[in-house]
This record gives sequence, C-alpha cells and structure tokens, in this order.
Amino acid sequence: MSKVLVISGHPDLSHSYTNRVILAELEQAIDTITVRRLDERYPDFRIDVAAEQQALLDADVVVLQFPFYWYSVPALLKKWIDEVLTFNFAYGPEGDKLKGKPLLLSLTIGGPKEAYTPLGYNHFPIAELLKPLEQLAYLTGMVYQPPVWSHGMVYIPGVYNTQELVERRAREHTGRLVAALQGLTS
Ligand SMILES: Cc1cc2nc3c(=O)[nH]c(=O)nc-3n(C[C@H](O)[C@H](O)[C@H](O)COP(=O)(O)O)c2cc1C
Repeated sequence: MSKVLVISGHPDLSHSYTNRVILAELEQAIDTITVRRLDERYPDFRIDVAAEQQALLDADVVVLQFPFYWYSVPALLKKWIDEVLTFNFAYGPEGDKLKGKPLLLSLTIGGPKEAYTPLGYNHFPIAELLKPLEQLAYLTGMVYQPPVWSHGMVYIPGVYNTQELVERRAREHTGRLVAALQGLTS
C-alpha cells in the first residue's frame, strides 16, 4: 500500500472547525497515512528541515492540507515550502528527490464559489490562484493532481454558518479526498 504523507499547514488546529475534522477523518479512513501537524511541531516556526525532507523521501504520495489564507497557503506552510524544498533536494541538478511523487492540494476556503468568478468579489477562479503551487509541482517533478477544495468553510459564531454545517462540509470534503487518494494508492 502506498504511503501517504499529509502536511497540515493550519497555524492552530485547536481553533479549527474544518481542517481538524478532515485530518481526524483521514487518519481513520486510510491506514498508510502519516499526518505531520506543522502547528504542533513548530509553534515557534523553527522547522526541522532534515526531518521534513526525510518524511518526504519516505512518502509515495504527498498531500498539502491547509486553509486558504489571503488566496494562498498560511505563512507556516509557506515557510515549510521555502525551507524544505531546497536546491539539490527538490530542484537543481541533483534535486530529483521528489520526482514522480503525486502532489495533491486539499484546501478549505471561506468564501463561496460564486465569489471566485470574474464578477464575484474575489474575481479569479481557485485553479488560477493555485498556479504557483501547480508550478511548484512541475519544477520539482512532482505529479500535480486535481486539487480537492471546499467553499463556505468559515464559521464565525452568530455571523457565518453553523458549526454543524461546516463540519458536515468537512466530512464531505474528506470523502472526496479519500476517493482521490484511493485512485493514487495501490
Ligand atoms: C488570515 C486569514 C486569511 C483568510 N483568507 C481567505 C481568503 O483569501 N479567501 C477565503 O475564501 N477565505 C479566507 N479565509 C477563511 C479561511 O479560509 C477559513 O477560515 C478556513 O478555511 C477555515 O478552516 P478551519 O476551520 O480549519 O480554521 C481566511 C481566514 C484567515 C484567518
């Protein structure tokens, strides 16, 4: 069975309603999964690069699980990308260590689908906003997979949604993610 590595980029899962549910359900659904919670490991943002690179070497499939922040990844996950995907590891003349590994983005998005259209308040489609990460896959030789994302994932008590609704969306999200991973693992 292929080994799935999930890098959780949420900056504080103790204050998460959706990523927390997705990670817990994933661990239940797939035996060969390893979840690395960056918030737990690196509350001080001091990333153990060697340990992270070893985790990547050991993996067959890599999932980046994160909440969409300012149309991108949260700062902790960006720092992980900047520091872990180094020259001659992820790119460069000897940087073939990730080559051929599938990369699957799994993200939770606060805004509704219609916001991410030309006349919506976020203008651009999600797939377009994810292009830097898609290009990251090409440069590293990883195999970019169709991302899995869900809209309407923000819960602010008394303002947006209910906890029950966003948790249900998180479980639906996990179902799609597990199906995508089953297609990649043997
Ligand atoms: C700092 C910050 C930036 C955010 N930026 C966006 C954004 O650019 N687009 C969007 O649709 N939602 C945005 N959101 C909403 C988050 O995507 C949403 O709260 C998150 O996916 C919920 O995940 P959680 O329940 O695991 O915390 C942002 C939230 C925060 C806190």
